[in-house]
Amino acid sequence: MERCRMSWVYDVVRCTAVFMGLVMMIMIMVVGVDGNSIGANWGTQATHPLPADKVVQMLKDNGIQKVKLFEPDERALKALGKSGIEVMVGIPNDLLESLSSSVSAAENWVAKNLSSYVSSHGVNVKYVAVGNEPFLKTMNGTYDAMSLPALQNIQSALIKAGLANQVKVTMPLNADVYQTSSDVPSGGDFRSDIRDLMLQIIKFLSDNACPVTINIYPFISLYNDPNFPADYAFFDGYSSPLDDNGKTYSNVFDANYDTLVWSLQKNGFGNMSIIVGEIGWPTDGDKNANPSNARRFNQGFISHISGGRGTPMRPNGPIDVYLFSLIDENAKSILPGNFERHWGIFYYDGTPKYQLNLGLTKSGTLVPAKGVDYLAKKWCVMSSSANLNDPKVASSVSYACGNADCTSLGYGTSCGNLDTGGNISYAFNSYYQEQDQAENACKFPDGLSVVTTKDPSVGTCRFIVQIKSDARTGTKRSGSGSSASSIQTRASFLLPLFMILIIVL
Ligand SMILES: *[C@@H]1O[C@H](CO)[C@@H](O)[C@H](O)[C@H]1NC(C)=O
Ligand SMILES: *[C@@H]1O[C@H](CO)[C@@H](O)[C@H](O)[C@H]1NC(C)=O
Ligand SMILES: *[C@@H]1O[C@H](CO)[C@@H](O)[C@H](O)[C@H]1NC(C)=O
Ligand SMILES: *[C@@H]1O[C@H](CO)[C@@H](O)[C@H](O)[C@H]1NC(C)=O
Repeated sequence: MERCRMSWVYDVVRCTAVFMGLVMMIMIMVVGVDGNSIGANWGTQATHPLPADKVVQMLKDNGIQKVKLFEPDERALKALGKSGIEVMVGIPNDLLESLSSSVSAAENWVAKNLSSYVSSHGVNVKYVAVGNEPFLKTMNGTYDAMSLPALQNIQSALIKAGLANQVKVTMPLNADVYQTSSDVPSGGDFRSDIRDLMLQIIKFLSDNACPVTINIYPFISLYNDPNFPADYAFFDGYSSPLDDNGKTYSNVFDANYDTLVWSLQKNGFGNMSIIVGEIGWPTDGDKNANPSNARRFNQGFISHISGGRGTPMRPNGPIDVYLFSLIDENAKSILPGNFERHWGIFYYDGTPKYQLNLGLTKSGTLVPAKGVDYLAKKWCVMSSSANLNDPKVASSVSYACGNADCTSLGYGTSCGNLDTGGNISYAFNSYYQEQDQAENACKFPDGLSVVTTKDPSVGTCRFIVQIKSDARTGTKRSGSGSSASSIQTRASFLLPLFMILIIVL
């Protein structure tokens, strides 16, 4: 009683505190307190990349304050100038050899690909990512010897350019650089074949107050291992969580991240900062890759780390992360799998794929790219008079798919339910759009193809109309003006693909 009556001042203070608390809670709910910790990977391996200024506007509209580029893409960097958006600029693996061989090569790289963007264009570069997963097992050790010297030379070059305080070096690594001997995170250590090297790299980063960057892919765990428990890949509960000396793991992300934390801690680097350089889920090209799973994963992940929460080993995050990825890239190599071209939270044209609250804006929903210019509303499809038994069908489809993108065809994909004619039309249209709707790109032999203004899309299967792009950076684009009727001569080079399609069709 006495305390209650103590004084009105007390009540005012208490009420103000409660009120401020409420305001803060509302702000956290609306804006997201760890707003700055979610970034996105912006890759540009597309035949028709979305114009860079439109991408930057889209980043702003979505409250995304940091991006990671895989190389110093000129268009992207210029568009990012004066936007305030924080940038991590990547150095591709194929430059590691020259960068490792001389400091002057690294100085040239910094002068050409960094300094001018920072000083003349006002790009807010925060990190240089040296190499990309150079110790991935499938690289067979190709980059082992050159990675650390390249990292050291770039750091020296940054110091010489007077940028070392603003720009930190790091090295994006695949999570296969560490492993656990006991199935639980506390058994973690670096992979034995590269352990000494990893410790030198970590020490160098640590000495220079630079973070380690790690890419974690629960989707790949599921893709590679049919016995992997699917629920463990997601964040909404798993019936048999791991127990690691009292720490509970109900999702593979936490377990994986903490395996790294243990690996670092055991070797004397318990305070090392960690960036999650890539994490995400694809929406097509595999039976587990669809918008619903991608939403479940990405939204689950964002909620899991929201409010600055971390993992059992580092409960007081925040977890610094770049989603993989911003936009689909239709010219990426499909060596890893057909899903590789479908990691975007946005389609090729900047349309959101599914409802996702990044926690960065008031609307709490993805905002599409604005002012995107499309080609004409027309498609190339199989002609109604075409004969499915025509001997030119298989080679035509093979040619179209070999030069464009058919990764949305196949079991469990967005266009997996098409009939044979639908498959053929899909392939033709993909090629036609990729060739900017050139007239002769819809002239497959024997009158197999025809241009239509009626959208052939059906159900989840989208027959796209390509966009007008400001760049042609696609790596596998064949010479423009190549005509579909030159198929017979070219098809022989595509024999393996041809065989596969014969079997499929
Ligand atoms: C700048 O980066 C590009 C793209 O990665 C690379 O091809 C080029 O060699 C670099 N320039 C220098 C001077 O290192
Ligand atoms: C690694 O070795 C395998 C098997 O010898 C080979 O198929 C693959 O192309 C090699 N990868 C690289 C990046 O050299
Ligand atoms: C880690 O950081 C904390 C707080 O800054 C410090 O007290 C501790 O000594 C550091 N540990 C190591 C291993 O550097
Ligand atoms: C269509 O193509 C896909 C992949 O190429 C294949 O899995 C499917 O069986 C085909 N459907 C028909 C009816 O040919």
